[in-house]
Amino acid sequence: MRRVRSGPSIAEFLHYYVLVLLDNKQQTKRELIQSIKEESADNRSYRRNGVLWVASEEMDKALRGLERAGLIEAARDGKWRISAAGRRMRAKHEKEREEETDAKERAAAVLVELMGPARSDDRVLDVGTGEGFLAFKLAEQGFSVLGIDSGAHDYSKDSIEKAKERARTRGGRAEFQKADVTQLTELQSTFDYVVSSQAVHCMNDQWACLRAIHRLLKPGGRFLCVDFAVGLKGFLAHGFHDFLAISREEWEELLRQCGFQGVQIYEIDDYMVVEARKAPEFRDEQLYGSR
Ligand SMILES: C[S@@+](CC[C@H](N)C(=O)[O-])C[C@H]1O[C@@H](n2cnc3c(N)ncnc32)[C@H](O)[C@@H]1O
Repeated sequence: MRRVRSGPSIAEFLHYYVLVLLDNKQQTKRELIQSIKEESADNRSYRRNGVLWVASEEMDKALRGLERAGLIEAARDGKWRISAAGRRMRAKHEKEREEETDAKERAAAVLVELMGPARSDDRVLDVGTGEGFLAFKLAEQGFSVLGIDSGAHDYSKDSIEKAKERARTRGGRAEFQKADVTQLTELQSTFDYVVSSQAVHCMNDQWACLRAIHRLLKPGGRFLCVDFAVGLKGFLAHGFHDFLAISREEWEELLRQCGFQGVQIYEIDDYMVVEARKAPEFRDEQLYGSR
């Protein structure tokens, strides 16, 4: 069985954002739907079928739920307004969000610690490196790191150039290359570690990418990854798109399907650090069979 993506439900999404939108001004149902469409327009790369569009019935359900909970009230002319309780709820969400802004750094620190001290010949691949968030941290620890990024999204098309520029000014043992992880066939069984930060959730075919990562590892090599934990907390902290986070259960299943063993998952607020290993006795002639 191949299960992949899940994320916060549309109901969770609406309950939060209706409060956000009504905190600014009173709006009708139609205006709320339009506002969400406009707010999510920049995030179309996260959605296969374009901009997030909330169905009218979904908005009805959310409005009724929020009204029953006393968080919003009907005003005049079909408009809705936020109640005092709704404001308090919104403030509570915002506070949680502030407290968690450094969670990515803390999750990355856990990942670095799990890797332990660098041996001089250890080779590390950072997949979806962006501007080198993890690659530079690991280079500072003495690892020799290749950071790759496909530049698959609008926001990431120049990332590798920026990472290269930073590498020129910082020195150290980090190199960068524009590449899709599934295309690095010539580097099979090369790396002692493959790492990844906040990238697996936005890969188009997570199964193919994790399979490629398994192939790129030496037997006994380790995959360590920081990514979003599924749930409203993660969602609130990361904005208006419905990112395609993977749940704990899906990670375990997906990694097993891709040939990994010894899966460990650590939760750090709205992030997870996922760790798994390629079997030490794994021989590359062994199957990388079909799905
Ligand atoms: C949200 S960014 C994270 C960047 C960086 N690792 C960080 O933590 O700041 C995810 C990156 O993954 C890259 N990416 C997505 N699919 C990829 C693939 N198949 N191979 C390589 N990079 C990929 C995207 O281009 C994007 O730069």
